[in-house]
Amino acid sequence: MAEDGTDTYIEVCSKSDIWIGEMEAFKVGRHNVLVVNVDGEFRAYDGRCPHQGRPLIHGELEDGVLTCRAHQWTFDVRSGNSINPSAQCLRRFPLRIEGDKVMVAEQPDQAGATAHRHNVGNLT
Ligand code: FES
Repeated sequence: MAEDGTDTYIEVCSKSDIWIGEMEAFKVGRHNVLVVNVDGEFRAYDGRCPHQGRPLIHGELEDGVLTCRAHQWTFDVRSGNSINPSAQCLRRFPLRIEGDKVMVAEQPDQAGATAHRHNVGNLT
């Protein structure tokens, strides 16, 4: 977060670089961030699995469900909430679209993991 209290956003790619149903990993500041295109809307999450920190980019994304390759934990990429096991979630990074640019904040959402469950409609 910048000194004035606002997030600093980094351009990671163009909207057309990640097709619907695809994902890509980027280095944003000191974080590895996973950007997902969900039905034309973009989400950004910590690129490490909340289980044991394995890179989620090596997982499978199908029908909005991301499966970690390491131990098959599954996540709904629309909300970031886990499916199996339940009560886990991906750490969200604020994301905004500027024209064709996909911009991701250098710092994760400060509201914490539980915010995912209440801000589903406010992710872009
Ligand atoms: S590290 Fe992802 S399920 Fe274990």
